[in-house]
Amino acid sequence: MPCKSVILTGDRTTGPLHLGHYAGSLRNRVALQHSHRQYLLLADAQALTDNAHDPARIARNVIEVATDYLAVGIDPAVTTICVQSALPALAELTLLYLNLVTVARLERNPTIKDEIQARGFGRDIPAGFLCYPAAQAADITAFRATLVPVGEDQAPLIEQTNEIVRRLNRQVGHDLLPEARSLIPEIGRLPGVDGRAKMSKSGGNALPLSASDAEIAASVQRMYTDPGHLRASDPGRVEGNVVFTYLDAFDPDPEEVAGLKAHYRRGGLGDAVLKGRLTGILCDLLGPIRERRAAIARDRDHVMDVLRTGTARAQALTTQTRDAVRDALGLFRL
Ligand code: TRP
Repeated sequence: MPCKSVILTGDRTTGPLHLGHYAGSLRNRVALQHSHRQYLLLADAQALTDNAHDPARIARNVIEVATDYLAVGIDPAVTTICVQSALPALAELTLLYLNLVTVARLERNPTIKDEIQARGFGRDIPAGFLCYPAAQAADITAFRATLVPVGEDQAPLIEQTNEIVRRLNRQVGHDLLPEARSLIPEIGRLPGVDGRAKMSKSGGNALPLSASDAEIAASVQRMYTDPGHLRASDPGRVEGNVVFTYLDAFDPDPEEVAGLKAHYRRGGLGDAVLKGRLTGILCDLLGPIRERRAAIARDRDHVMDVLRTGTARAQALTTQTRDAVRDALGLFRL
């Protein structure tokens, strides 16, 4: 049997996951878990890099995000779910990798640049935050992952990981660690329900995975369509129309969506019809997730068991990689 390739991804545990996470990576992970060896990292240590003032929130959300994983259909029998801060080998690799990157290169990383802007750090950037790309390289390489399913904003982090891998491999004279590639969904990033480029809980434009039918309907009701499309009989624009962006992301029947787009452009198709369709699709998608989520949330012991088992498995693998890196570099061993 051919060896399954290894997937690693993770999420910062800053809050429960939302529909943007689902479209951007969760559903890829669910689809890939049987054909690949998959590890999911609850990135609580990375979450601390810009939340040092509130570690209790980060800790609390480890359980919330794990519950989200199980609710969307991640199967802990085939996917290993583990907790970043409980894996000291990741921190040890980070410390080694920090010597293989420059501060200038970290500052040039487009993801870091955007996030520094968005957070308004100014000159007060936490050192851990600036350096988290080295930690993410440690995450990816410790599991010897070759495929990383993420949103497009994460691509520069995978690139920087590969630079570290190449530098290390060159230094030790053989392919000690594999390079990884990112797997980015074709549809691109899901905009917020208000049409802004990014769905985020802090931006107040997210649909949580636990949203009720009424919340879903209210969010869709408020979505922008084409401001020039005043009457149903008017021709309407599809590009930049948030409702169509969502239909492209979630409608199980793309051919019908193509037909609806043509009709909308011609005129004669009202926004209410489109919004009704989208509301139905999202309620069908999120309803079962919400119910499973509620059931799992009542069984905290089960979630804790999943985390303990997964983290123990990850411990073995990450420790092995750390030792291989230490030995290849020729570090002192007692
Ligand atoms: N940076 C990712 C995010 O913000 C989380 C993350 C941590 C991650 N470690 C990772 C993603 C390793 C992919 C691989 O969501």
